[in-house]
This record gives sequence, C-alpha cells and structure tokens, in this order.
Amino acid sequence: MSQKRPLNELHKKFFEKNSLLLTVGILVVVSIGGLVEIAPLFYLRSTIERVEGVRPYTPLELMGRDIYIREGCYNCHSQMIRPLRDEVERYGHYSLAAESMYDHPFQWGSKRTGPDLARVGGKYSDEWHRDHLRDPQSVVPGSVMPPYAFLEDAVLDYSRIEMQLTALRRVGVPYDDGMIESARADIAAQADPFSAGYDDLLARYPGATVHDFTAQRRLTEMDALIAYLQVLGTMVDFSTYEADADENLR
Ligand code: HEC
Repeated sequence: MSQKRPLNELHKKFFEKNSLLLTVGILVVVSIGGLVEIAPLFYLRSTIERVEGVRPYTPLELMGRDIYIREGCYNCHSQMIRPLRDEVERYGHYSLAAESMYDHPFQWGSKRTGPDLARVGGKYSDEWHRDHLRDPQSVVPGSVMPPYAFLEDAVLDYSRIEMQLTALRRVGVPYDDGMIESARADIAAQADPFSAGYDDLLARYPGATVHDFTAQRRLTEMDALIAYLQVLGTMVDFSTYEADADENLR
C-alpha cells in the first residue's frame, strides 16, 4: 500500500500539469459513461413498453386536450402518478410511459396546486365536471380553482381537425386515412349516444366513451374538455395488466 501512493501522486501531477491531457482524459472517461447509457438504446425497438388498450385520442378528446393546453390547466395539475405509495393510494396505479405515448406534447406537468389528473377519467359524471368547470366552489367548497364557465358559450371550432390528425400522424400517432376522413363524423358520434356513427366510432377507437352532449344546440369547448378529462387514465385495464420487462427485447 505504502508503495502505491507515490505512483498515484505521480499520475496526479502528470495530469494536473498537462491541462490538454487532463481534458482528453476527462473526455475519454465521460464518453465511456455516455456510451454505456446510450448504446443499449440502439438495440431496443422502443423504450416504451407496448400496453394493451392504449389508443390515439378520438378527435373530440383531442380537441378537449387542445383546450386543456390553451387554458393552461397544466399550471395547476400534473398528469403523472409517481410509483410512490402515497401517490398510488391516492390516485391509483402509477402512470405508465405508454399512457402518454400519443401525447404531443405530454402533460406530465410539475405543479400540483390541484390534484393529479392522470386518472380522473370516470371518477365523476359529465354533469359533475360541467358544474365544477362552471363554478368549482359549487361542488368543492373552498376550491381555489378558477371558473371556466365561458367554455360553455364557446362553440367548438373543429374546422381544422383533419390537419391536426395529419400533423400528429407525422410524429408517429397511428391515425389512418379512415380516421382522418371521418374525423368530423366521429366528433358528432361521440357527442350523441343515439347517433348512427356509434359503431364506426367504437371500431376505430375501441373503448371510447360516448357522451350525451345533445342538450345544447351546438357542441361547446366545455363538451370537448369533458370528453378529454373522462378518458384520462382509463385506456389500460389494470385488473389484467402485468408489467412485462422483456417486452422490448422480443
Ligand atoms: C389556479 C390553479 C388551477 C387551475 C389553473 C386549474 N385548476 Fe383544476 N383544480 C385546482 C384545485 C385547487 C383543485 C382541487 C379543488 C377542486 O376540486 O376544485 C382542482 C380540481 C380539479 C378537478 C377535480 C380533480 C379531482 O380528482 O377531484 C378537475 C377535473 C380539474 N381541477 C380540472 C381542471 C381543468 C380542466 C382546468 C383547466 C381548464 C383546471 N382544472 C385549471 C386548481 C386549478
């Protein structure tokens, strides 16, 4: 041991006195670390585990998502349940990467003035959401969430929905030609439980919830937002889901 120390000292001096060599040395060591992290990614088909049930948003849900982003709901709400016991007990199964694989951009958020919304879908009725968005204090006394009643008067403008689906397809969301062509019909079908397009909608988007938004004459931004909130966290059936770590290597 005592013989080794002078040798180490010598190495140290050598590197410290030659700054260029020190820089090269640092680069070599750091790139080994980098390669160890990056190289495996070239062998994996995807870093996101495929999970049954995850599907692209329906056009109506997608419109609602745009309103969620436009209104800045993410400033107060996260959409990511971390795998910690207190979070899982409060919100449900922790979020899977696959659950936001079609989110561009994702809405994980980092601020929780309000609760996490990753699994809010199905927790309340559409009517509850309507009352809550209109006037949060009417259903949750003491709530500090601002009211969004104006969304109820804003007629939903989905004149560019085909372009939106096409843009998302370019970044990898599997919208096919049929989905893009029938985007408007699908919006109408999801808003009316008695519509003729019901079966087609479900064939294209398995498990989609059809809402009764026919009370008003026209579809509103609030309707779309509610359709979006109601799908959050509901695509994966956790009674049958099993994490499979080897999925990516097959
Ligand atoms: C200023 C912060 C703030 C903003 C912005 C905000 N919220 Fe909230 N939200 C809260 C708080 C606080 C609560 C908890 C009290 C309550 O339920 O009203 C809440 C609760 C909720 C709940 C009920 C969650 C549950 O599990 O009970 C939903 C749904 C919701 N917000 C949706 C939205 C949507 C959609 C928007 C954007 C249109 C939005 N919030 C914007 C603060 C905010």
